[in-house]
Amino acid sequence: MLRVGLLGHGAIGTQVAKALEAGNVLGAELAGVFDPWAPHPRKSVDSIEALLAGCDLVVEAAGHEALCAYGVAVRLSRTDLLVVSVGALADEKLLDDLRHPPASHQSQRLGKLYISTGAIGGLDTLRAASLLGEIESVEMVSTKPAKNLIRPWMDDNLRQVLAQGQEAVIVFSGPARQACALFPESANVCATAALATIGFDRTQATLVGDPNRQTVRHEIKVEAESGRYGFTFENRTSPKNPKTSAIVPFSVVRALRALAESDEVMLL
Ligand SMILES: NC(=O)c1ccc[n+]([C@@H]2O[C@H](COP(=O)([O-])OP(=O)(O)OC[C@H]3O[C@@H](n4cnc5c(N)ncnc54)[C@H](O)[C@@H]3O)[C@@H](O)[C@H]2O)c1
Repeated sequence: MLRVGLLGHGAIGTQVAKALEAGNVLGAELAGVFDPWAPHPRKSVDSIEALLAGCDLVVEAAGHEALCAYGVAVRLSRTDLLVVSVGALADEKLLDDLRHPPASHQSQRLGKLYISTGAIGGLDTLRAASLLGEIESVEMVSTKPAKNLIRPWMDDNLRQVLAQGQEAVIVFSGPARQACALFPESANVCATAALATIGFDRTQATLVGDPNRQTVRHEIKVEAESGRYGFTFENRTSPKNPKTSAIVPFSVVRALRALAESDEVMLL
């Protein structure tokens, strides 16, 4: 039985917990939930140490700071880690520390590091393309409900345009690394595409706030030696968190099924 611990019990964590408790992932069980601000009614634990003591895999769905605070400790405790806050990995030091935990020595067994596919797909094709040869360019345009893109660092004018404007407005265009730093809750998808292809500095991201949009649309264009690829994903948002697409917890559940169910038909 794969014992799953949840770090974060918000829009994503609650759905994953429900699926596990409902028995929707054969071969896996909910072992514990660590979220001091949104406790689980039955499975809450009060520290990361208590979470790690009882599980084989941690699903991180708690945000960038939590991944920074606990990610390395999860791997060092030989517990596998499925990262959902993928945008946090634009921080080069964090990504490096997670890949090669500082306190570990070469022969030490670490928990495995998994990255959630989250709100998009097509990553299998992009990985295969990068094995065949050069990927020349990756361009992403994410169009979101305008209000979801308001950030504390914006000036009053831009905030007002996003809060009350009638037209779609480009709020960012540039490297994925910068998109992740400026819009931590809204650039996970470009981080995932960057990790699967040519990295955070060469992947180009554009974020558009559209006051007339209720869904989140991601358009990805890739030029590669193996061919030319275009994907469009249009996701409904989570009723619990409008910055998160409703499909994301189910991407996590799909991943848990692939890891836990020995007779699951795997799309590899
Ligand atoms: N990979 C993707 O495609 C994708 C898509 C959407 C969201 N996300 C990311 O997933 C993460 C979770 O999203 P969400 O919508 O569930 O967020 P949410 O705000 O609804 O829930 C986050 C939960 O984490 C808890 N938390 C925060 N800091 C914590 C800590 N240090 N220790 C324990 N718990 C802590 C909060 O109390 C909250 O309940 C975010 O980082 C978000 O950006 C990724």
